[in-house]
Amino acid sequence: MVVMALRINFGDLRIGEIAKERLKRAIAKHWVSEGDNVKEFEQKFAKQFGYKHAIATSSGTTACIAALASLYDFGAERGDEVIVPAATFVATANAVLAAGFTPKFVDIELETLNINPNKIEEAITDKTKAIMPVHLIGKPCEMDIILRIAKKYDLKVIEDACEAHGATYKNKIVGTIGDMGAFSFYCAHLIVCGEGGMVVTNDDKIANVVRSVKTHGRPTGSIYFDFHRFGLNLRMNDLTAAIGIEGIEHFDEIFNKRKDNLYKLLSLTKDLSKYCYFIKEEKHEKVCPHAFPLVLKDKKNDCAKLYKYLDSKGIQCKTLFGSLPTQHKAFEFLGYKYGDFPIAEYVGKNGLHFGIHQYLNDDDLIYIKNTLEGYFK
Ligand SMILES: Cc1ncc(COP(=O)(O)O)c(C=O)c1O
Repeated sequence: MVVMALRINFGDLRIGEIAKERLKRAIAKHWVSEGDNVKEFEQKFAKQFGYKHAIATSSGTTACIAALASLYDFGAERGDEVIVPAATFVATANAVLAAGFTPKFVDIELETLNINPNKIEEAITDKTKAIMPVHLIGKPCEMDIILRIAKKYDLKVIEDACEAHGATYKNKIVGTIGDMGAFSFYCAHLIVCGEGGMVVTNDDKIANVVRSVKTHGRPTGSIYFDFHRFGLNLRMNDLTAAIGIEGIEHFDEIFNKRKDNLYKLLSLTKDLSKYCYFIKEEKHEKVCPHAFPLVLKDKKNDCAKLYKYLDSKGIQCKTLFGSLPTQHKAFEFLGYKYGDFPIAEYVGKNGLHFGIHQYLNDDDLIYIKNTLEGYFK
C-alpha cells in the first residue's frame, strides 16, 4: 500500500500577531511563570463563556486533578469513588487516580458516545463522592438526569468538558451545569495553548479551593510555605497563556468554521450512514465541533482495516478510546472483566474519529468523503 503524506491532521496551532506581541512582552519582563497573561487569560475565558471563575492550569489533565482534589474540602476521603464513563480519553480516569480516588466505570450509549445516565445509579456505593461526566467529542451529556441523581445522593458533579469548548445543553454552557468543569487547550481543541487547561465554576468556595490546590494547597494568593490542604504545582505559565488569549479572540470564528465543516461532512457522507453511525445534534443542544466520529454498524466491516486505510491516505485517525477498564491494561488492577461494558467495548473496536478543524477547506472535506467512499464501495 502506498502511504501518503499527512493531509488531514487532528488540529493545528498557528501563532499569530496577538500571541507574538504578548510573548514578547512576557519575555521582556523576564517573568514567564504565572503572571499577567495568565490572569488575563482567566478573565477573558470566564467572560467569553459566562463563568464566574476560571482558574488556569498546566493542562486539561491537571485541570481535572485540581477539580477532583477540591472534593477533600467537601467531605471526600482518600479511596472514595468517582463515577466516570468507561470510554473516554484516559486522562479522565488517570486524574481520578492521581487525586487519590478510585474510578467507578459506567458504560456509554452508542448514540451519544457519552455515559449512559440510566446506568449511573447502580454504580453508586457508600464511597461515591462525585460523578464526572465527559462531554465526549463535544457532545453534551444528558445533564438533567445526572444532576437529579447527584442531588438524590448528595454528590458533586465535575464536568470533563476538555473536548467541549462552547457547547451548550438546554441553553446552559457546559462546565458549570454541574459544580465545576475542566477544559484542555492541547492542539486538537478549539482554544489552543500547546499545553494548558482551565477549571471553571460559579461557586466561590470551590474556586478558592481549586486556586489553592493548584499551588500546593497554599491559601489563595499566598506564596509562602504555609500549606492548608493537598495540592500540587498545577499552574499555567505566562507564555502558554499568551497563546491561549489569542485563541479566545478568534473563538467564535473557529467555532463557526469547524461547525460548518462538521455539517458539510455530515452531508457529504450521508449515503454512508448505512455503514456508520455519525454524530447527531439535537434541538436542545449545541455540539462543540471537536472532531468527526464514526462507529461501524456491521462488525464485519473491520475498523482496524479502515483505520489503517485512512492513515495510509493521509487522514490521521484516533480510535474512540475503547473501554478503559476492560480494553486497556493500565486499569486491569481494578478487576473488571471483558463484557462488563459492552457498548464501550463495541465502540472501542468499531469506532474512530478524525479532525474537522478550522484549517481544513472544502477540498479537504471532499477528499475525506471520497476516501471513505473508496473504502466502503
Ligand atoms: C476528555 C478529555 N479529558 C481530559 C483531557 C486531558 O487534557 P490534556 O491533554 O490537556 O491534559 C483530554 C485531552 O484532550 C480529553 O480529551
